[in-house]
Amino acid sequence: MSRIHEALKKAEQERAISQNSPVMPGPAVTPTPAAMGSEDGLYSAAQAVIATAEAPLAADVPSFAGGSGPDAVLSRCARMQWEPEKKTMLFLNGNDAGRGMEEFRTLRSRLYLARERMPLKKILVTSALPKEGKSFTAANLAQVMAKQHGRRVLLIDADLRGPRLHTMLGTVAVPGLSDYLLGSQDEFAVMQRGPMENLLFIPSGTQVSAPAELVANDRFKLLLQRLEPLFDWIVIDSPPAVPVSDASILAKICEGVLIVARSNSTPADIARRAREEFSEQALVGVVLNGMNQPAGDYSQYYYETYIKTTTESKS
Ligand SMILES: Nc1ncnc2c1ncn2[C@@H]1O[C@H](COP(=O)(O)OP(=O)(O)OP(=O)(O)O)[C@@H](O)[C@H]1O
Ligand SMILES: [Mg+2]
Repeated sequence: MSRIHEALKKAEQERAISQNSPVMPGPAVTPTPAAMGSEDGLYSAAQAVIATAEAPLAADVPSFAGGSGPDAVLSRCARMQWEPEKKTMLFLNGNDAGRGMEEFRTLRSRLYLARERMPLKKILVTSALPKEGKSFTAANLAQVMAKQHGRRVLLIDADLRGPRLHTMLGTVAVPGLSDYLLGSQDEFAVMQRGPMENLLFIPSGTQVSAPAELVANDRFKLLLQRLEPLFDWIVIDSPPAVPVSDASILAKICEGVLIVARSNSTPADIARRAREEFSEQALVGVVLNGMNQPAGDYSQYYYETYIKTTTESKS
């Protein structure tokens, strides 16, 4: 059995155990921080483990290669006053030793290792079902990557159905991705900077009625092609994979897919269906979010990350 399947199986087994055992805390059905059962609201954090001709395109993206560097190009993006959620935006709250941070560092290391074996810059974060921690994982992964000196990271909220990253980061959602895809804004108008110099963010943008059609728009591919040279990593948040098709569409323009599963909550068969959605893509990891603490010790977290190569993921 592959390690990915082992991870999904493990999530299922833990769910079964917690349902049968009176001492293990049950799954939080509504995963709001208050419902997660830990003092600070942070439950065991992410397991580290088409453009029309007239649509605007910024003139010198990515022509920086021959002139000003990427930092100079990116400095043209609006600097916004973010007010990040203190409990869940782990690397933006001024605490360098907070809960869950180490696991994201481990996840980062694993992704660098994966990158030695395959081209990997654009990572899609998705899950089978809603509320499994996709946005939480995408936001913190982007932050931990941007923490590294000299690494530029772009975080994109491509969940046009239920955008949440702007709320987590405490900033505005408009203008954003949908406005770019509709051709009403250029790259610089939709990218914003917050307190972290190397972390750029494209929020979801104006609410639209046909999100799947919009993300399938060739202009998304164009956006990534133009911005890719400016960044070391591009992390894309998406809607859940099983109910809607957006994530499958997005996965085709990314090199790697990271699937988030809620420990004690995501049924293994549903997680497997999500995996099947991405059978053509490289699954670079499964993040088990919200695992129960072993031995009743809730002061530490327990994480695992399963990183696979493209070839392994198809085994
Ligand atoms: N490990 C964690 N610790 C604390 N809070 C968490 C954790 N994971 C998720 N949450 C919180 O649980 C809620 C749901 O998480 P999140 O929004 O990341 O899920 P999602 O999969 O992106 O949901 P949706 O399918 O609606 O986009 C959010 O309030 C988030 O801050
Ligand atoms: Mg989300």
